[in-house]
Amino acid sequence: MAEVIVALDVATELEALHLADSMPSLGWAKVGPTLFLRSGPAIVRELKSRGVQVFLDLKWHDIPHQVAGAVAAAEELDVDLATVHAAGGIEMLRAAAAASGFMRLAAVSVLTSHTPESYGEATGRGTVDLDEEVSRLAKLAMAAGVHGVVTSPREVGAMRSLVGAETWLVVPGIRPAGSDMGDQRRTADPRAAVEAGATHIVVGRPITRSEQPEAVYNQICAEIA
Ligand code: C5P
Repeated sequence: MAEVIVALDVATELEALHLADSMPSLGWAKVGPTLFLRSGPAIVRELKSRGVQVFLDLKWHDIPHQVAGAVAAAEELDVDLATVHAAGGIEMLRAAAAASGFMRLAAVSVLTSHTPESYGEATGRGTVDLDEEVSRLAKLAMAAGVHGVVTSPREVGAMRSLVGAETWLVVPGIRPAGSDMGDQRRTADPRAAVEAGATHIVVGRPITRSEQPEAVYNQICAEIA
């Protein structure tokens, strides 16, 4: 069964825990760089002590030794899922996978904020076909033994046919019918993302900015059950 990961994109530990506590059946939470830098590892320990699984989304991209160290530290902290950039290369990905222990790793391919032109500029390759680039990087991550891929709702179906059935597909950009798009452009509703192959959907503002986070969370869980 697919899981709903609530992105706790708030600035303080207090706010994050208040939100988590408002959803007693919360199964998974995402901690990003802002919250992690404000609260430190304490936020992970607090969430874990409440029985919540933690997705630490710090998107590591460094030399293999550094990334392996970060992955090992996250695993010691009992993080359940963390992210690395596939563009870090096969050696970095292998080092990360080797250090991951019981923790799962998902690879980020091309940031969805890129256009073909901006990606081409960053990589010195002219205009790049981003669909091909996403597939290429996902295959690299799989070859290195990484367990999953972060993918947009638009690509999740194609990604599912590219990777094995065991691979986790972590999909942000989820908008339940009728909710505000915010800055997301490539969105899908929860059920469509899961039907296309998502194992984990990441939902932030539709839940965290709602007057009734628990009701929206439960509604999304029911929709994908
Ligand atoms: O609030 P919203 O539902 O848009 O939050 C989506 C979450 O997924 C955010 O935490 C954001 O960092 C993350 N994300 C994303 N798009 C990506 C990768 C991650 O929105 N391509």
